[in-house]
Amino acid sequence: MPPTFARIIGTGSHLPEFVLTNAELERRVETSDEWIRERTGIEQRHIAADGETTSDLAYVAAQKALKAAGITAAELDLIIVGTTTPDIIFPSTACLLQHRLGAKDCPAFDVNAACTGFIYALSIADKFVRTGSARHVLVVGAETLSRMLDWTDRGTCVLFGDGAGAVVLRADQTPGVLSTHIHADGQYKDMLHNPVGVSRGFTDGPNHGVRVMMDGKEVFRVAVRTLSRIVDETLAANSMSKSDIDWLVPHQANLRIITATAKHLQMPMERVIVTVNKHGNTSAASVPLALDHGISSGQIKPGQLLLLEAFGGGFTWGSALVRL
Ligand code: ACO
Repeated sequence: MPPTFARIIGTGSHLPEFVLTNAELERRVETSDEWIRERTGIEQRHIAADGETTSDLAYVAAQKALKAAGITAAELDLIIVGTTTPDIIFPSTACLLQHRLGAKDCPAFDVNAACTGFIYALSIADKFVRTGSARHVLVVGAETLSRMLDWTDRGTCVLFGDGAGAVVLRADQTPGVLSTHIHADGQYKDMLHNPVGVSRGFTDGPNHGVRVMMDGKEVFRVAVRTLSRIVDETLAANSMSKSDIDWLVPHQANLRIITATAKHLQMPMERVIVTVNKHGNTSAASVPLALDHGISSGQIKPGQLLLLEAFGGGFTWGSALVRL
């Protein structure tokens, strides 16, 4: 039997209609457009409307990905959603999405790996396809991080946005996803977290815990170091060199982190997909949003080699090497 690989056969994304500009943020907290652009590269972000949930965003992105793939929801064997902001504690966002799509009976579950959620979900999906357990898989990254931001904390509220991205994978004899690499180190749990409790108790933490807390400087430092390491690990695992990569599709947290990773890869910024300026940091949604943007804008072409990477709370980090 020849080996089976997972191929990306369709992508889709969705952003909420409301755009929050840096100028508007200047009116809400003591900040400036100049500070935000210089330190992060962010110009604007999309924010979900009242009542608009993570599964609402995921649903539209998933429908677009299914259309691009030319398959129906009924053909799906598995749905995985990477999210840190589920609609409710349970059922999972993936189950809510499965019902709305009409993908009856197939397994559906969420993965919480903060900003690395999509890469974790893609890695799991790849294993299901490679082992013959699934033929068509829907992998989504979707977030409404705006719901858990402290809008009086200028250190965090300027960084994040809402959105969703989705890919459909199909089992194929040609790759596809060449390899995925996922990691975690829980010793950094306090550097980037939301302390709201479930088994700890719902009222734990300031503001009943409804806030993202972050040691920005330290996160920045560890993120740059760790992302350089994971791109080296990915290339070594595939016996490839930096020049083999056509596109870097990075997690969109901060333009300076993206630039540092591109520099480590000796890649010009013309070969890096950048959406952080328009989307902010959409956590688990950022990589599939960037991927869909790269494909739909015509920058990324069939047959090209893509390096996807992400870093987030946990800390968690991961990468995927993908031949489109
Ligand atoms: N507007 C104006 N001033 C601000 C703002 C703001 N929005 N936020 C902080 N400042 C001030 C600080 O109070 C500080 O003032 P002080 O010197 O008087 O104390 C000054 O600006 C410098 O603050 P720093 O925190 O040192 O600024 P830094 O250059 O480190 O940039 C930033 C901050 C943008 C948060 C940066 O550290 C960063 O991007 N870190 C990584 C964050 C990140 O990527 N998180 C997510 C990754 S993982 C995931 O995606 C979940």
